[in-house]
Amino acid sequence: MKHLIDPMDLTVEEIDRLLALADDIIADGRKYQEVCRYKKLATLFFEPSTRTRLSFEAAMLELGGSILGFSSADSSSSSKGESVSDTVRVVSGYADIIAMRHPKEGAPLAASRNIEIPIINAGDGGHNHPTQTLTDLLTIHREKGRLGNLTVGMCGDLKFGRTVHSLIKALSRYEGIEFIMISPKELTLPEYIVKDVFDKKNIAYREVRTMEEVMPELDILYMTRVQRERFFNEADYIRLKDSFILDEKKLVTAKEDLCIMHPLPRVNEISVKVDDDPRACYFRQARYGKYIRMALIMTLLGVSADEYR
Ligand code: CP
Repeated sequence: MKHLIDPMDLTVEEIDRLLALADDIIADGRKYQEVCRYKKLATLFFEPSTRTRLSFEAAMLELGGSILGFSSADSSSSSKGESVSDTVRVVSGYADIIAMRHPKEGAPLAASRNIEIPIINAGDGGHNHPTQTLTDLLTIHREKGRLGNLTVGMCGDLKFGRTVHSLIKALSRYEGIEFIMISPKELTLPEYIVKDVFDKKNIAYREVRTMEEVMPELDILYMTRVQRERFFNEADYIRLKDSFILDEKKLVTAKEDLCIMHPLPRVNEISVKVDDDPRACYFRQARYGKYIRMALIMTLLGVSADEYR
């Protein structure tokens, strides 16, 4: 593994190793606090972020490394017309590893060509978000104790939600996953996900229009926000933005051990009253993001705690 562009760049065995390493970091972070000494992470964010950028930076700092980068296209020379490839090529002379977010699908893949240092896709348009997927897998593994034999409901903006697309691809490799897609008709999954994942692997899935009708079946409820920034038409966004709001009433029929996830940011699709429910996992999920990114940085840089014993 040199770069991480698509969640399918990782084998199931590589994911298992990353999850095991993240578990060990959670258990005893002190073992890892020097492993990236003298290493630098560049965060090149051409699109806004709170969790992904800051958890990458916190991850590198906790490993004893340093960080540099920018948090918007406006504060980089892309605002003067520099290409992404040129930017990445130049930064590869200043850093040991790059995490990059870009609004254009495929930009991190294009940038990774002919670059000697590892590039991590930190989200490309409505396409993929592989480190959110690793975060989600770590969350499911820690909260449910398994990655297979689960009924997973995905709710909200399934058309533009890159976290949903990446997680479906990753979970489709585990036994006994049943997918239930909960969205308005206008925000259903892109056809390429249905063809490339569900049809190709013969995975059964259901499409429904309300979360109430499937709530009692779910082991995981993965909520998502309607992605305003990907709409071409503001009127469509306003019409669809409140399609699904999870509140205490809707949880009455849910399993006792339901795991409610959300990649965040939340707008209003989960009532704040749900936050105190023990089944609300989304803030723990955001915290796990730092640990899995620590594991990923270490793996891509080829460093281990053993070298520092
Ligand atoms: N989940 C996620 O990608 O959040 P940010 O956009 O804040 O990074």
